[in-house]
Amino acid sequence: MQKVVVANWKMHKTIEETTQFIEALIPLINDCDVKILLAVPFTALAHAARQVKGTNIQIGAQNIDFHSKGPYTGEISAEMIKEAGAEFVVVGHSERRRLFHESSEVVNLKVRAALAAKIQPLICVGETLEQRQEDNVEGVLKVQLATSFAGLTAEQISLSMLAYEPVWAIGTNLTAMPEDIASAHHFCRNWFAEAWGVKVGQKLPILYGGSVNGDNAQALLKIPNVDGVLVGGASLVVESFSKIVLLKNYS
Ligand code: PGA
Repeated sequence: MQKVVVANWKMHKTIEETTQFIEALIPLINDCDVKILLAVPFTALAHAARQVKGTNIQIGAQNIDFHSKGPYTGEISAEMIKEAGAEFVVVGHSERRRLFHESSEVVNLKVRAALAAKIQPLICVGETLEQRQEDNVEGVLKVQLATSFAGLTAEQISLSMLAYEPVWAIGTNLTAMPEDIASAHHFCRNWFAEAWGVKVGQKLPILYGGSVNGDNAQALLKIPNVDGVLVGGASLVVESFSKIVLLKNYS
């Protein structure tokens, strides 16, 4: 499977800063083996999507509302981001779960809304430090997966991506231990294989996220069942982000 590198810019970058970033990135990635996805702020979507036409970069959003339209002041629908040029959307990031009280039930509705609009959902799951200390990682993942993906067809699953992001590793400079990442990814892969069949399980890209940077990405991408990385802080600067996307030799 081709490795995937996703930038999650969070609430960073104006339209002008987005334009400068992409302008600087494009000439650097001619010889790049990975699939590059940039999750940009809503306001920069349309500009970024126009700018990457003809390159191997895809643009996406960081959130959507699950309603298709209506009296939901301040919300943005899947159809709206699609029109603006988004090809994917991050759903259920731990910051949304924690700061905006998004449950896995809501995540499930958002995944459905994205798929209905032909947008690829990238669903984030992961345990808190407390849950890890209680030795409950698999229990937490199982509930998050079962609820977030409830009722989807095998075809819908194979159009999605998953990111395992231990909450305590996000923005903290603490990456999980390789054996813990390997075991969480193996657990997720098996869970999909059991629920939707081996083929679906094998096809689903499972990304790791949490303090990924240019120095640790190669080792992370070599871990079995790690099909890519979701990068926050290190995706904000072209130099550090391009270092990750230009990596070679993952086996
Ligand atoms: P980080 O963020 O790379 O800054 O830890 C990752 C994320 O939030 O997806």
